[in-house]
Amino acid sequence: MLSKAAIKRRLLPNSSRAYLRRYNEDFARETAPGMRVLDAGAGDQPYRAFFADCTYESADFEQVDKPYAKSTYVCDLCDIPVEDGRFDRVVFNQVLEHLPDPLAALRELGRTLKPGGKMICTCPLFYEEHEEPYDFYRYTQFAHRHMFEKAGFEIDRLEWMEGYFGTVAYQFQGMASALPVSPRPYLRRPWWPALAWPLVVAVKGAALLLAGLFYRLDTACKVTSAGYPKNYVVIARKRGGEATA
Ligand SMILES: C[S@@+](CC[C@H](N)C(=O)[O-])C[C@H]1O[C@@H](n2cnc3c(N)ncnc32)[C@H](O)[C@@H]1O
Repeated sequence: MLSKAAIKRRLLPNSSRAYLRRYNEDFARETAPGMRVLDAGAGDQPYRAFFADCTYESADFEQVDKPYAKSTYVCDLCDIPVEDGRFDRVVFNQVLEHLPDPLAALRELGRTLKPGGKMICTCPLFYEEHEEPYDFYRYTQFAHRHMFEKAGFEIDRLEWMEGYFGTVAYQFQGMASALPVSPRPYLRRPWWPALAWPLVVAVKGAALLLAGLFYRLDTACKVTSAGYPKNYVVIARKRGGEATA
């Protein structure tokens, strides 16, 4: 018997998860064995296995009510208890939006990196509030560039993580879960919302099917020529050194 979560994964194969894996796997492939890697805001450390040949360390403040893997450093990302230039690589997924002072955290991550050391950062532009109350911002591509450059990084790549089909799929998924189907809110003055109610119910059902279709489309073909992304991905290098292989 399939679990509820497994059924949901089959119905709605979230393309963001596929792209997160792909980008982190590629970043790990370009990380030489033996390098020291910091997973910053690691949570349950979903990408740890990609860095099995490296010296993997993690930092997280562990303040959210959710399961955590054991962190090497339990700390705020603005104050990581390690020496300057300890790490060759920083992995920084889905964390920047949770930091009240993002520039201070980027400068601190830069301090812990060797000159020329690299970071992968993924961060949402379009995503619901989560991990409350530690959810502060959403960032455009221009905000990413501004902050990384101000914090002492050069940007090697800054691009959409998913394509627009992924953003559309996420919107359909939101409609499928949040559109109200109880008739109560519709039965009031003015009278016409009562007529719209069956339409909303039908749209909710259709949205679930369309979310599944668009997630699959996004994994099969990443369209970035129109619309907007759900997440950006940045590959950045600390200034002041040759890039390390
Ligand atoms: C959305 S989760 C991402 C977890 C993991 N990187 C991933 O990709 O699955 C955000 C993580 O950032 C951590 N976090 C948020 N604010 C933090 C802070 N100020 N200092 C350290 N960690 C923080 C949270 O505890 C949480 O584990």
